[in-house]
Amino acid sequence: MKAVFSGSFDPITRGHVDIVERASHLFHEIVVGVAVNSAKNGIFTMDERVAFVRDAVKDLDRVSVAPVDGLLVEFCEAHGADVIVRGLRFGGDFDYELQMAHLNKAMGDIETVLLPAGREFGTISSSMIRSAAANGGDVGAFVTPMVDAALRARFGA
Ligand code: COA
Repeated sequence: MKAVFSGSFDPITRGHVDIVERASHLFHEIVVGVAVNSAKNGIFTMDERVAFVRDAVKDLDRVSVAPVDGLLVEFCEAHGADVIVRGLRFGGDFDYELQMAHLNKAMGDIETVLLPAGREFGTISSSMIRSAAANGGDVGAFVTPMVDAALRARFGA
């Protein structure tokens, strides 16, 4: 089966990488879809986010990366994906994920598979990483070296 792992990845964290890596053992092929969440104000452009994700998954077999332009279900159809994969960190994620899963099922007749986030990075989020970095925190343990360098450049750390 082919899966799409979607997210806004602003920026990608080691928690996301953990999900892609584990999903790559479950599915024949993974396409990481870098999308826009219209409810969020991020800091990195689509091109930057795609570049960070490509770098983060470059050593994983059968994993590719592409920007999502429009609806996720249309992206899934264009890529011939059978399922959407999302990571689930804690209870708070569940309601949101269920809503999205139902919407995507209704709009595109596609199932969503939720993978429990790994214990090591299971509670971090992109906005927390951005906030810590903006205030001079060292977030190197939670992101790839490329993202760490970009955050340092952005916030002058
Ligand atoms: N490790 C680390 N962080 C994780 C994580 C994990 N395993 N799982 C979730 N997160 C965090 C993310 O860092 C992110 O944090 P943030 O809120 O601080 O940014 C948050 O949980 C979830 O964000 P993300 O996975 O990037 O998803 P999203 O909710 O921002 O994106 C889209 C949702 C982009 C996939 C959705 O809006 C979409 O499909 N957009 C395209 C348009 C569309 O089709 N809309 C209708 C369907 S909803």
